[in-house]
Amino acid sequence: MKVLMLLIALSSSFYQGTSSTNTMLQKPIKTLVESPKSAAYKILVAKCNVCHRKKNPRKVFTLENMESLSPKIFKQVFVKKRMPKGKENNLSPAEYALLKEWLLTLN
Ligand code: HEC
Repeated sequence: MKVLMLLIALSSSFYQGTSSTNTMLQKPIKTLVESPKSAAYKILVAKCNVCHRKKNPRKVFTLENMESLSPKIFKQVFVKKRMPKGKENNLSPAEYALLKEWLLTLN
């Protein structure tokens, strides 16, 4: 999260000194700012797959299945609050926000 904020700060200060017609300079910056899906995927890997790999191998999250599993993820994390299981895998407020941001990009 700190890295993401830094990137946003860097890219906005970068834009200030750049003419809006200079697309050559803008393109690489855009790719540096992480997409909601990629941010969510990193959280699913770090906070969910660590356990699912062993304890629930049928639901190991991947870039391919995370969208189809998103209704279940939403239900377990935000409605029932059953996941992530165990204290050592708690999500930080920033991680909750990033997961939600991704869920909101889906219809
Ligand atoms: C410490 C272990 C552990 C962690 C961490 C964990 N899970 Fe789970 N999860 C399980 C186990 C075990 C099951 C299967 C049994 C059950 O549903 O309780 C499960 C089941 C699920 C299911 C299926 C529920 C259903 O039956 O529909 C979803 C979805 C899920 N987890 C999402 C997540 C997400 C998202 C995270 C991370 C934010 C996460 N889990 C973190 C252990 C874990």
